[in-house]
Amino acid sequence: MEKVDVLLGLQWGDEGKGKVVDVLTPNYGLVCRFQGGPNAGHTLEFDGKKVVLRSIPSGVFQGNKINVIGNGVVLDPALFKSEAEALEATGVDLVSRLYISKKAHLILPTHRLLDAAYESAKGSGKIGTTGKGIGPTYTDKVSRNGLRVGDILHDFESKYAQAVARHKEILSHYSFPYDLEKIEKEWLEGVEYLKRFNLIDSEHFINSSLKKGCKVLAEGAQGTMLDVDFGSYPFVTSSNTVSAGACTGLGVAPRMIGEVYGIFKAYCTRVGSGPFPTELFDETGKTIRDLGHEYGAVTGRERRCGWIDLVALKYAVMINGVTKLIMMKSDVLDQFETIKACTAYKMGGKIVEEFPFDISEDIEPVYTELKGWKTDMTHMTSVEEFPAEFNDYIAFLEKQLEVPIAIVSVGPDRKQTILR
Ligand code: GDP
Ligand code: IMO
Ligand code: MG
Repeated sequence: MEKVDVLLGLQWGDEGKGKVVDVLTPNYGLVCRFQGGPNAGHTLEFDGKKVVLRSIPSGVFQGNKINVIGNGVVLDPALFKSEAEALEATGVDLVSRLYISKKAHLILPTHRLLDAAYESAKGSGKIGTTGKGIGPTYTDKVSRNGLRVGDILHDFESKYAQAVARHKEILSHYSFPYDLEKIEKEWLEGVEYLKRFNLIDSEHFINSSLKKGCKVLAEGAQGTMLDVDFGSYPFVTSSNTVSAGACTGLGVAPRMIGEVYGIFKAYCTRVGSGPFPTELFDETGKTIRDLGHEYGAVTGRERRCGWIDLVALKYAVMINGVTKLIMMKSDVLDQFETIKACTAYKMGGKIVEEFPFDISEDIEPVYTELKGWKTDMTHMTSVEEFPAEFNDYIAFLEKQLEVPIAIVSVGPDRKQTILR
């Protein structure tokens, strides 16, 4: 019996999950997404190419591995069609290597409209969602009104019409103009396109694969600080991004979970609204954004940048039961004289080391300063080449987080990955 290893983000998303899933894929038989949807943008770079995946797992490029879109995912057939067709155009035989859970919920065009209507009604309190209909789709799932991928196979028209009528009624309460016809046409074409894929009971498939000795990698989307339970609520996404989400999002028992890879940037970013204690509004923040090309993979939105937050990271390590850490984008800090790490929050005059209920309160980060390594690390291929100050940074983080850093990434390319 094999296990499911989980790889997930420990910060506010965009840690580099796609890149590392692609790197690790040769070690696995199956790669499965377990939550989220096209709000994700997972970037892979190899052989001079750059690909951004949104609903399709990041294991489609290395060998002929089977990839699964699990039941915990929400799928937009129109966006899926354009993403899949673009991949097929590059020669990837997707139909043979991508299976989709019949229990995954469908994002309807009206979910996208509702997402936009809710956001505009929130005014300055808006979440800054990706506008992909994620919240409304998960809301319908939990309120038992959702449509699932399996529904497209039987009597779909009437189920769809019923859902749309309900959504239109809700939309009528918002002064929000919309043109459903155009997006609906594309969406229905997407539904037809979906039918060429293996639509399966993925929980059975994954468990029987494990039984046959196939190793499974579960690919998280978003990050722990965006988790609906443990993130910076309400500025979060609508799914459980934490390791427990892999159990419900794939139908595997907790005892089947093996390694939990927690991935983080050597600094920290966030896109959209919501609190971010270590955010930098000065030149340093701008420098990190420029050097790290910190712009959204999907929306192109500027990512907010700041120093690493160990209060939040320790919390994420605890909630996920992280067994191995992966540090990304170390190269972005290559030029810095000094690197700061937040080890506590000062709140109302008190020092707080445990991640608090509400981080939107006035927080002054307490920083430890470390010496920068001032060395170009992007060409390095082994730990022996690491500068002493970089090793000091790693040792400091490992001591704080009490988990080993097993992988270090020094550039966006597949090859710029160093195992420790
Ligand atoms: P994901 O959503 O977690 O898969 O991450 P994104 O793809 O949204 O964002 C990560 C960005 O950083 C992408 O543009 C990657 O190509 C890039 N990236 C990944 N690892 C590294 C690294 O080690 N160094 C640098 N400079 N860029 C990286
Ligand atoms: P990956 O998988 C970064 C953020 C949005 C917004 C909040 C809610 O690429 O790391 P949603 O559309 O989910 O309702 O938006 O969550 N968000 C992400 N931020 N990376 C992501 O995915 C994100 N997916 C959602 O910006 O603040
Ligand atoms: Mg991303």
